[in-house]
Amino acid sequence: MLSLLDTAKQFLTAPPIPQGGVLIDFTMGNGYDTLYLCSLVPEGKVYAFDVQEAALASTRARLLAHGITNAELILDSHAALLQYVKEPIYGGLFNLGWLPGSDRTVRTQTESTLKAVSAGLSLLAPGYRIIINVYPGHLEGTDEGNALADFLATLPKKQFAALKIRLLNDEKAPYLYVLEKYKK
Ligand SMILES: C[S@@+](CC[C@H](N)C(=O)[O-])C[C@H]1O[C@@H](n2cnc3c(N)ncnc32)[C@H](O)[C@@H]1O
Repeated sequence: MLSLLDTAKQFLTAPPIPQGGVLIDFTMGNGYDTLYLCSLVPEGKVYAFDVQEAALASTRARLLAHGITNAELILDSHAALLQYVKEPIYGGLFNLGWLPGSDRTVRTQTESTLKAVSAGLSLLAPGYRIIINVYPGHLEGTDEGNALADFLATLPKKQFAALKIRLLNDEKAPYLYVLEKYKK
């Protein structure tokens, strides 16, 4: 079985991403995803968001160690996406929850997550995808995932596809939402 992360990457990159395109890391954390996204757009740019300075420091060090310079690290909520990004985006990743190894009280929150998803979809280029990793192993994560499902079910079906990928035999296992904006 493919890992959830590999599955997320396969869905993200199924539509070929232009090397000069813009991608969003909505939850930078320790920068593993930022580094990966930067590799997809070597002539483009990744905007990465986190509310914790520790995440920016960790990601900055990781990018430096790999000689990566095409990321802009933003110390702000992903809900503020539209203040920072004005151009079309060719994909984005959310990894919900908290920074591994840190204070678990600083975690993604339903209200700002929904705002960020909505903003991301408004910038998404037709034919491209946003992937959301949900962690339902704790109550807040379960609620956040359910609130997302309620919101995603309201997306106009002629404009978007919203897909859920999860194990049916493990209700605590992380799962994915894959969102695609249809080509006109
Ligand atoms: C599971 S971690 C992300 C892991 C990360 N993608 C990586 O590769 O290491 C979730 C991150 O979301 C961040 N976060 C929480 N609320 C946020 C918000 N409103 N906007 C942006 N990031 C947020 C947390 O600080 C935490 O670092």
